[in-house]
Amino acid sequence: METKRIYLKHLIKDHHAQGTSSKKELEEAVQEAAGLLKQGEVVAFPTETVYGLGAKAWSGEACAKIFAVKGRPADNPLIVHVSSIEEAKGLVSDWPKEAAICAGSFWPGPLTIVLPKSERIPEQVSAGLDTVAIRFPAHPVAVALIKASGFPIAAPSANISGKPSPTEGEHVWQDLNGKIPLLLDAGRCEIGLESTVLDLSGQIPVILRPGGITWEQLSGCLGKVEIDQGAADKPGQLMPPRSPGVKYRHYAPQGKLILLEENFFAKMKMIESSLSLAKIGRKIALICFQETFFELPERVKAGLDLVFILGEREKPEEAAGRLFAGLRLCDRQGMDLILAEGMSNIGIGAAFMNRLKKAAGKGDMN
Ligand code: TXA
Ligand code: MG
Repeated sequence: METKRIYLKHLIKDHHAQGTSSKKELEEAVQEAAGLLKQGEVVAFPTETVYGLGAKAWSGEACAKIFAVKGRPADNPLIVHVSSIEEAKGLVSDWPKEAAICAGSFWPGPLTIVLPKSERIPEQVSAGLDTVAIRFPAHPVAVALIKASGFPIAAPSANISGKPSPTEGEHVWQDLNGKIPLLLDAGRCEIGLESTVLDLSGQIPVILRPGGITWEQLSGCLGKVEIDQGAADKPGQLMPPRSPGVKYRHYAPQGKLILLEENFFAKMKMIESSLSLAKIGRKIALICFQETFFELPERVKAGLDLVFILGEREKPEEAAGRLFAGLRLCDRQGMDLILAEGMSNIGIGAAFMNRLKKAAGKGDMN
């Protein structure tokens, strides 16, 4: 299958893209994508978090294609994307007070809520669970696409299963070119980490996956908010995760990833000792903040095969937005070892560290 890639150029700030530029062309591109979705096809589109691979949520058959294209395990349910709060209410059997609060405070935006599903939700979407995950995204293309389709869109991240989520149209292209009919490319996603998944189907709200909306923001509105064990840092938890997706090793680069210790001297020591590996032909990458890079001795810099700068330490949101691009770059350049600098678990740091630790987990597995 040939994949058509439409550049939504006026939305792309930092890309040298050719193609679509006017509002009218944007409308035409969205109409084309909506037409494919109506025919039961899958389409990749931008959201403010990461790119999604969408299908008509009411069609089990169309949603099954998402699993086939991504190589996604069948027991991992999909998020359904809506373009209004009213539309969200049509997907559930109950709309509790907490849902109204969350939707009012954080939608459109990077928050997914899990609620008891309506009977209309196909088996493929909820993967056997009696709940459904719903999100009203903030990206203008995503919203326009849902509206033009006239139905909610089920969409996981638009990557091959097991790879970091795509935060640029180029990442989707690398993973899915030849496998899907259409990619709407609007350049870089602003947030760059996936949405927070919040389970509102029980007594107490539970974060199943940390993401773009922080625990601090949620507890500010809802009071007590718990964090599921499955969303916690370490693998091998005692209880099965409530969000099926968190048990899979998402976000994993090909190379072995080592999280650098917080202490500056320990950090430098780890980098230096890793460099001895370079002598036996291993390629070594460093993902770090600008400040750390400036403090590296020249001989250390010279020993590294790739340095990816996350940005300034004082701008954690920016660093979070760049993380997946950094991991993907390491893969493309065949890095054997990736040394990555962490940040504190506060605010967006919780989601950043969650993804980094998952990526680091892979090295222990094989
Ligand atoms: O930001 C995002 O959330 C992006 C964009 C495209 O919206 N989507 C995304 O989807 O990251 P995906 O499929 O890669 O991750 C969805 C997560 C998975 O961990 C899945 O297990 C969980 O949400 N999930 C989906 N439905 C659920 C449900 N009914 N109960 C618990 N967890 C659910
Ligand atoms: Mg995903």
